[in-house]
Amino acid sequence: QTSTTLAGKKIVVTAGGTRERIDPVRFLANDSSGKMGYTVAQSLQKRGATVILISGPTNLTPPVGVQLVPVKTSAQMHDAVLEQFANSDGLVMAAAVTDFRPVQVAAQKIKKTAAAKWSLELEKTPDILKSVAKIKQSQQITVGFAAETQNLQVNAQHKLVSKQLDLVVANDVSQPGVGFNGDTNQVTMLSQNQPPITTELLPKTAIADLIVEQMVQLLPKISL
Ligand code: C5P
Repeated sequence: QTSTTLAGKKIVVTAGGTRERIDPVRFLANDSSGKMGYTVAQSLQKRGATVILISGPTNLTPPVGVQLVPVKTSAQMHDAVLEQFANSDGLVMAAAVTDFRPVQVAAQKIKKTAAAKWSLELEKTPDILKSVAKIKQSQQITVGFAAETQNLQVNAQHKLVSKQLDLVVANDVSQPGVGFNGDTNQVTMLSQNQPPITTELLPKTAIADLIVEQMVQLLPKISL
């Protein structure tokens, strides 16, 4: 394993959570810290890849040598991914994309009223990986994440097929030390033609190296 295995390859990585505005002072967001995506970006970069990191707002510093494309909303991330994916060798979609957004964004701060209840109408955001699947070429590889609290393998297997992924990194976010925000993770990696690989609970840096190792194994098969 050399540090230049991925030299000449352009890989797009998404990280962090997206945000959707409700009004000028409020937004919908999620618990994603961005750590898993940033660590994968670093690991790919260490292997010699040209890495484009499309990130929602985080507290993290992008790895040196990685090109950062900052975005806020799921729509911005969607457009940035489609633009960057077109001439890339692969995509790692580690971002926690907001699944819903307000149908209407209020131009002014929404005021409290006497009513005890208030509701917000939401609409689905576009599924970025599904858009990518439509333009994906046979030599490009796509990696998705599946954060689940139940039926991990069944749900992850479904994503592998429905989003036409080469690799799904699934984690059970109900387990201590797994998933959002922490520095550790435990994952099961599913691909089309191999038995699932389940890791120990490891630092996210080690998990990132294992994900990249799987990508390295998938890339030549497809691009040769
Ligand atoms: O469908 P679900 O959100 O559970 O799938 C998770 C995977 O899909 C992640 O890789 C995530 O980045 C990606 N995703 C996406 N577009 C969305 C929602 C999730 O690409 N709107």
